[in-house]
Amino acid sequence: MHSILILNGPNLNLLGTRQPEIYGRTTLADIEEMCRTYARAIDVEVAFDQSNHEGDLVDALHAARGTHHGVILNAGAYTHTSIALMDAIKSVDLPVIELHLSNIHARESFRHHSYVSPVAIGLICGFGARGYTLAMDALVSHLEKDT
Ligand code: DQA
Repeated sequence: MHSILILNGPNLNLLGTRQPEIYGRTTLADIEEMCRTYARAIDVEVAFDQSNHEGDLVDALHAARGTHHGVILNAGAYTHTSIALMDAIKSVDLPVIELHLSNIHARESFRHHSYVSPVAIGLICGFGARGYTLAMDALVSHLEKDT
């Protein structure tokens, strides 16, 4: 059975109350529940994590090697700043899907650049919480290609 890590970065713990006009009213706990339910339906194992700290996210990516088959990463604002996360993704040699609730390309120009995109297998953005299950489908299809 495929095992997927869903990793969330800074400020995503505040989903539900954080700028709901952009990110919606769904909380991160709601999203986790949605992902766990969907994982049972499509028969994959899922781990769900969040940190506000760049180094913790790097550690989580390192720990994913040998534990999970792929990663869905919403790196939050670190998407636009973190060479360390980009290097970690390159180093662990796992398929990573970049995910954003909002359409980062329709927002401020500083959100248009992503350090994650060049090392991700693909990008899903703009579909709100639904993007998480879309990303799970995309990652599983990618993993099934290799088996
Ligand atoms: C985000 C988009 C980022 O630009 C922002 O810094 C976030 C959330 C999203 O899910 O839309 O924290 O990753």
